[in-house]
Amino acid sequence: MKKRKILLDCDPGHDDAIAIMLAGRHPGLELMGITVEAGNQTLEKTGRNALNVVQYLDLDVEVALGSSRPLVRELQIAEDIHGESGLDGFEFPDLERDFSDKHAVTFLIDILRQSEEKITIVTTGPMTNVALAMRLEPKIIENIEEVVLMGGSYGYGNVSPAAEFNILVDPEAAHIVFTSGLKVSMMGLDVTRKVLALPSVVKRMEAIGNKASRMFADLMNAFNENQRKVYGFEGGPLHDPVTIAYLVAPDMLTMKHVHCDIDLSHGVSYGRTNCDVFDYLKQEKNAYVATDIDAERFWELIEQGLKRYDDLE
Ligand code: BDR
Ligand code: CA
Repeated sequence: MKKRKILLDCDPGHDDAIAIMLAGRHPGLELMGITVEAGNQTLEKTGRNALNVVQYLDLDVEVALGSSRPLVRELQIAEDIHGESGLDGFEFPDLERDFSDKHAVTFLIDILRQSEEKITIVTTGPMTNVALAMRLEPKIIENIEEVVLMGGSYGYGNVSPAAEFNILVDPEAAHIVFTSGLKVSMMGLDVTRKVLALPSVVKRMEAIGNKASRMFADLMNAFNENQRKVYGFEGGPLHDPVTIAYLVAPDMLTMKHVHCDIDLSHGVSYGRTNCDVFDYLKQEKNAYVATDIDAERFWELIEQGLKRYDDLE
């Protein structure tokens, strides 16, 4: 099977960690690199978390540190959900690996410019690094196959009535990506809130009994405790891995082609992804938004993904 080349830009984050796990060994994907920015926690913490996950899962992939703050706004973090470390609940062994020498933005530009085939960009955090790369070297846009993001919603938000976290952290960056002319595929809260890591799911994954499943269970138990406190959810939405599910099993998701504007007004709906799902305004369509997901197939994919790490000690 020909592998689809991807670059993953993230801010780990419990669900980002599971997206790394799923992408890292999927036979249909070639993970060309991981770039990190501030989001769920400060860059120092999200960077360390990404490297910890990569080392723990013994993935042969470079991790490059990027933006420490959004383009315009002050940094807003999600410590209430992801904890003080940004990845509370699991103790990783001491770090022996190091980051790439390159800044994430240079790393993205170099890989995209050197590649003979187009690469898909997956974002599971604010889109600061990708937006900066597009502005610094617009030629890279030609080398991007598609941008697949976890972010936004055509319904309501999770950090304001209107906005989802990844978009609200850096609305200006999201605007740059959504107006790039590229195929943009958005996995928003409308679908990620249908894949809840309920206690029964955590038990099922824990029963696999390998190194990756132990990480999954410990991380999800901590994540769920915070989701319960903040939102009253019994199981937290496993947002970020939905991007990978879309790539490897697109028929698991229902998509709708729409016009989508990012609200940059600095008002109460700042950061909202305004999706014209009824095509009322007849504007040019610039995004595919996910409207439904087959949750049972999603959990099968996570289970298979965890089992791919059976050989690790
Ligand atoms: C998104 O925000 C972060 O807290 C999660 O990692 C996910 O990417 C959900 O709104
Ligand atoms: Ca994330």
